[in-house]
Amino acid sequence: MSQITKPALFNPERVHEGGELFLARSDIDDLHQSFIELINRLDTVPADEFAELFMQLIEHTREHFAREEALMVKSGFPAIAEHCSEHGRVIGELNQLEKRVRLGRPMMARAYVREQLPGWFELHTRTMDSALVGHMRQRGE
Ligand SMILES: [Fe+2]
Ligand SMILES: [Fe+2]
Repeated sequence: MSQITKPALFNPERVHEGGELFLARSDIDDLHQSFIELINRLDTVPADEFAELFMQLIEHTREHFAREEALMVKSGFPAIAEHCSEHGRVIGELNQLEKRVRLGRPMMARAYVREQLPGWFELHTRTMDSALVGHMRQRGE
């Protein structure tokens, strides 16, 4: 008898050591690991727990971006404007969705977490975050 198991939304091994999205920079990798944990939990969380967990994701994402932005300032990262504006765009989207979730309309937020955030995270990590880490490494930071 075959058993159908739902694949993990985002394989967490990809952001751990040995994974292709691991940046070998513990402060950023830790944030990415907990981000992936949150979006995977949000995909399967019961309806009555979604809102609370979604607010946690927003809080976590604000902290994640603020920490990276502090590193950009400290290291004089040349693409700071572009990177911060990308963070700002995502926070703007999350803020819009938060309003709907607070009104008891979580459908768009659920779809966003499942269909948009994983792909966004992957591309953002491969390009902008990885450029930031490369820049800091070059400076010996
Ligand atoms: Fe990041
Ligand atoms: Fe970033």
